[in-house]
Amino acid sequence: MNAHQILGKFPSPVPRYTSYPTAPHFAAEGSQGVIAAAIGSIKSDEPISLYVHIPFCDRLCWFCGCHTKQVRRYDPIEAYVCSLLAEIDLYKRDFLFWPKLSKLHFGGGSPSILRSDDLKRLRNGLESAFEFLEDTEISIEVDPSDMSADTLEGLRFLGVTRASIGVQDFDKAVQASINRPQSFQQTAEVVEALREIGVRSLNIDALYGLPKQTIASVEKTVGKVISLRPDRVALFGYAHVPWMKKHQTMIDEADLPDQIQRFDQNHAAEDLLISSGYRKIGIDHFALIDDDLATAAETGHLHRNFQGYTTDDCDVMLGLGASSIGRFPGGFMQNQVATGLYQAAVAQGKLPVAKGFFFNRDDVVRGWLIERLMCDFEISFAAFRLAFPAESEDYLAELIQLAAAEKDGLCASDRERFFIPNEARPFVRIIASRIDAYFDKTKFRYSKAV
Ligand SMILES: C[S@@+](CC[C@H](N)C(=O)[O-])C[C@H]1O[C@@H](n2cnc3c(N)ncnc32)[C@H](O)[C@@H]1O
Ligand code: SF4
Repeated sequence: MNAHQILGKFPSPVPRYTSYPTAPHFAAEGSQGVIAAAIGSIKSDEPISLYVHIPFCDRLCWFCGCHTKQVRRYDPIEAYVCSLLAEIDLYKRDFLFWPKLSKLHFGGGSPSILRSDDLKRLRNGLESAFEFLEDTEISIEVDPSDMSADTLEGLRFLGVTRASIGVQDFDKAVQASINRPQSFQQTAEVVEALREIGVRSLNIDALYGLPKQTIASVEKTVGKVISLRPDRVALFGYAHVPWMKKHQTMIDEADLPDQIQRFDQNHAAEDLLISSGYRKIGIDHFALIDDDLATAAETGHLHRNFQGYTTDDCDVMLGLGASSIGRFPGGFMQNQVATGLYQAAVAQGKLPVAKGFFFNRDDVVRGWLIERLMCDFEISFAAFRLAFPAESEDYLAELIQLAAAEKDGLCASDRERFFIPNEARPFVRIIASRIDAYFDKTKFRYSKAV
């Protein structure tokens, strides 16, 4: 069966598996005790990672699936920074020591909307609660339209080592249909300015499956992206979920490529990136061979979390800000999603965690299997036995049965491993959903598998 036939056979949407179980399973009841458990799992000699969410943008792109809000004035942003500083103080009250920081990531929305004064206040606030190390990785998502000399000064003070720049598409007709004008020149200037202030690693986000995109237009955009020589490229398929994101109804569905066109756009962009020296990482990332994401993929140390593929191997991640998700060895926790509710909780002196999830043993094992499959496209029986000596045989029997029953070539097994054959890799999420004990395609609505 070829890829186009598989697409026709499996039109049902599946989760992206940036976590297991996926976020819709986190529940308010789970928030009881989850904060104490997460804080209790932080060790003084093991660095943690931190995610800070900034849910604001000065424009609203119609394709956007992120948790953000368009603001026309700066006051709400300033007030939000005060809430973040208060949330940091609340954690500080509960810490018995200064947790060491391995990674600090600012995501959004557009954290590049912050003024330098606020970026400085945040760095100082974080330093009062966490120990920054010489090699702490500090990364931020950048919308090029925000960038000014003031932003650059703030980013320099913050100590940013990595930046991820949103491009999406350079074609004017596509940009008009998603409300995101952005010239190549403007983007190239931002790339240069970030490199000048010492940002040593750059990622660029591009999309396929957008309205009015064709194979030729996607190739042209990706060619321009490659000419900027970012260390990494994230190539995402546009997730059209207008039932969750009302502004996506601004997109004319008649302009959207169909599933086969999406697949072919992805394939063409991927060929171009690979022939230009990028290595494919997982389902949607690309990295230059000497980038540490490529090294992690090569050596089996790649991870997947809410930010996508990552080298982050910390046991604990705390999430600050509205909607942020944290993770610890015992489970997940999520802050209030609505910015107002988040700010109200902090104002009352309460950590704003609204949902949680405690793992049972089956969750831990299936989460491990799904993460390895999404990262490596295979599960080594030896590695699995080593990680779960007590319970591995039952799960291995399940995997072998899954491979034996597979009629479309989406997965297979041999004496040493369960794997996704090369040509079936774009469909890995379908196989992950068969390992997912919670997957119920009738209950939640997801985006397309490819
Ligand atoms: C927080 S934004 C990036 C930073 C900045 N706000 C910008 O747009 O330049 C994160 C990325 O998510 C991706 N994204 C947003 N909405 C999406 C959707 N509906 N489907 C797929 N990817 C999406 C885009 O590639 C975007 O660059
Ligand atoms: S794509 Fe980026 S800039 Fe556009 S609305 Fe979403 S978060 Fe904001």
